[in-house]
Amino acid sequence: MSSYTVGEVLRREQNVINEIKLSLPSLSINEGIARAAVAVFCSQADPSTTELADIKCAVSEAVTNCIVHAYRDTIGLIYIKVQLLPGRWLRIEVKDRGCGIDDVKKAREPLFTTAGADGERSGMGFTVMESFCDGVSVRAGVGKGCTVTLCKKLRERSLYT
Ligand SMILES: Nc1ncnc2c1ncn2[C@@H]1O[C@H](COP(=O)(O)OP(=O)(O)O)[C@@H](O)[C@H]1O
Ligand SMILES: [Mg+2]
Repeated sequence: MSSYTVGEVLRREQNVINEIKLSLPSLSINEGIARAAVAVFCSQADPSTTELADIKCAVSEAVTNCIVHAYRDTIGLIYIKVQLLPGRWLRIEVKDRGCGIDDVKKAREPLFTTAGADGERSGMGFTVMESFCDGVSVRAGVGKGCTVTLCKKLRERSLYT
């Protein structure tokens, strides 16, 4: 059961052990609330401090993108689903029904941003998600919103490490 590949976990929910679903309006305060809620759920699997920090950071980037890009001039709902799968896999979906992305490949390139020159955005959000997770998938269409799926396999933990 522990032998799922990254692709399998991203593609499909495999034998879900436990899950939470949240929906939150795209208010900036909800970035921190979403991050904390996901962290509490993930804690049941006893992640290392580093793993937990990685997950929080990746979720924070995905949720921030919904707030600042997907629902740029409006408030819409962000749907988050977190699942624990066999083999210590975590699968996290962050979905919006906002403006969508026209070129996902381009959007995922390091330093690419559509946020303009105000210096607020670095264009590194997807790169951060990729470096802190084992796999990231992005499905989006123009006007159809965006779904980011993150997956991370927690390392085995012994009592004394
Ligand atoms: N949920 C989303 N909805 C619409 N566009 C998005 C979304 N997430 C990311 N994008 C687009 O992808 C680009 C790159 O995202 P990211 O790597 O997080 O960098 P940044 O947020 O700093 O611009 C954004 O500038 C935006 O154009
Ligand atoms: Mg971003």
